[in-house]
Amino acid sequence: MNKQLRRAVIAGNWKMNCNTRETAALLEDLKPLVANAGCQVVVGVPFTDLSTALEHTAGSNIHVGAQNCHWAQSGAFTGEISAGMLTELGVEYVILGHSERRQYFGETDATVNQRLRAALDGGLKVILCVGELLQQREQGITGEIVAQQVKVALQGVSAQEMQKIIIAYEPVWAIGTGRTATADQANEVCGLIRSVVASLYDAHLAQGLTIQYGGSMNAKNCRELLSKEHVDGGLIGGASLKAADFATIVQAATEG
Ligand code: PGA
Repeated sequence: MNKQLRRAVIAGNWKMNCNTRETAALLEDLKPLVANAGCQVVVGVPFTDLSTALEHTAGSNIHVGAQNCHWAQSGAFTGEISAGMLTELGVEYVILGHSERRQYFGETDATVNQRLRAALDGGLKVILCVGELLQQREQGITGEIVAQQVKVALQGVSAQEMQKIIIAYEPVWAIGTGRTATADQANEVCGLIRSVVASLYDAHLAQGLTIQYGGSMNAKNCRELLSKEHVDGGLIGGASLKAADFATIVQAATEG
């Protein structure tokens, strides 16, 4: 019922895949397949593919995102990219706090918060990723971990700014492993995230928040996951690199 209040968003996280030629080809394949989507469609591409992606999605319903941004506006941060650099190109979204950033690049809840603040200040919309490790799930602390990630990441974010935020629940044990969370597990934690957001802001805001599930979502399992009350979309890794599979997921989100 409340699902109707929310915008479904299917976002591709291409990770470190596709050169500019492959980016152009994938987007040209994808465009006609998702042209009539009843949900929002986003592709999160590598920095070096952003211009190509913007060029090949111009005039279409596909929105373009980056996969990270730095917390400073400029300065001595070798190898980093600022939010302002992204908005200047015409980029609309940024994925922040992905577990691969946390796992391999020292990202913490505090740095995710700093990056998120900078992204909002720079005019970007944010897909904020949270999720527990397998060990944490086995220890029975999934709720605590995810609540902490959400609370710290959203520090200093106003209710109005929350309109620009999507939260993606991505259990780390399900990412790239082929081991999807069950639809009930996904729904349970997405619902928990919604209640954390309600406690930070209010119930009305939380009811309007788009919460995605991510972690081995594919053309086969998407329908069941997306049918759940609290699952408003998906953040898709592997399956976003195949136009037909990604379009199937977009179609499933359109049908709700
Ligand atoms: P996956 O990746 O769909 O390949 O599991 C999801 C993600 O990391 O966002």
